[in-house]
Amino acid sequence: MKRVLTKKLLPGMILANDVFTYDSHTKLMDKGTVLNEKDIARLAFYSIIDVLIEDAPAEETVPPRASETGLTYSERLRQSEAFKEFKHDFEECASKFEHTIGDILKGNEDLDLDEMMTPIYSLISQGRTTSNIFDMLHNLRLYDDATYTHCINVALITNIIAQWLKWDESEVEIATQAGLFHDIGKLLIPDSIITKPGALTDDEFSLVKTHPQKGYEAMKNLSISAHVKNAALMHHERCDGTGYPLRLRGPQIDKFAKAVAIADVYDAMTSARYYRGPICPFIAISMFEDEGFQKYDPEMILSFLHNIVNTYLLNTVRLNTGEVGEIIFVNSANLSRPTIKVGNDYIDLSKCPGVYIQEII
Ligand SMILES: [Fe+2]
Ligand SMILES: [Fe+2]
Repeated sequence: MKRVLTKKLLPGMILANDVFTYDSHTKLMDKGTVLNEKDIARLAFYSIIDVLIEDAPAEETVPPRASETGLTYSERLRQSEAFKEFKHDFEECASKFEHTIGDILKGNEDLDLDEMMTPIYSLISQGRTTSNIFDMLHNLRLYDDATYTHCINVALITNIIAQWLKWDESEVEIATQAGLFHDIGKLLIPDSIITKPGALTDDEFSLVKTHPQKGYEAMKNLSISAHVKNAALMHHERCDGTGYPLRLRGPQIDKFAKAVAIADVYDAMTSARYYRGPICPFIAISMFEDEGFQKYDPEMILSFLHNIVNTYLLNTVRLNTGEVGEIIFVNSANLSRPTIKVGNDYIDLSKCPGVYIQEII
């Protein structure tokens, strides 16, 4: 039996123990479950940090298949000039951010916020559309484990969420900063715990869960919006009171923390992992639709899902039945289940319970 971080799980691995949610100790999955992509996304959705896995070798995982045209959507994207440019800008951004954060954690309170935010905004501008940015983020494979990468992803996604919600310009800026700084407390947790191969003890696990307070403390004296500090403290709170550290409920949670919470979980579910391709965004969307409306701000989550689905309109997808078709109509009442045109047929996924979008190709 070995401990595997959720972000390193592969389809085919077998759970060695039952998995429970951290808050209500509701059983999420049974011992013996052979994990598939949906299960892994579900564990990420519930912010499960790690699970125990049977030693038996995982079934051979199939690398992303080439489509009929030779390359998958991800492969084509990764070879494009636009992607290479994004990747380059992103790397630069990550190293600048790492530098500044190092200063903050050492107690340096002179933060040049503008200098820090400029590279982030330049990632978003440059004629890149939101669907571009989501696609690029889903396919970035470098700095796989670094908290810095995750923070930049969350900054970009929170920025997009704020724009979709039509927040004013100064609020969009605060939202971006809130995403960037949300996990700064994680950098204060010893690496030996984050990378420990065996199961975490209760004490070690409690320590990991202190990262929201640690982040808040680290930023307390910085001249930065109180919302940014609140987002560090409250991004693991959930509207139904099942989050941590304070078990706050909807109205008590800072609205910037609510936006960051959505971006944080979406990134955990969809960002590419070195050993497997990115999880299909439609799997993440269905998870939010099935289990997310009590946990996240309903207005924010609706706008987020609606907009994401619309960015994939007219994309070609492969269904779990193996059929390939084009997304031609979004069902507002069932966002993860649009209508797909396959040949001359139309498949309304909202009327086909067992069929779902497995892959964008
Ligand atoms: Fe966090
Ligand atoms: Fe996070």
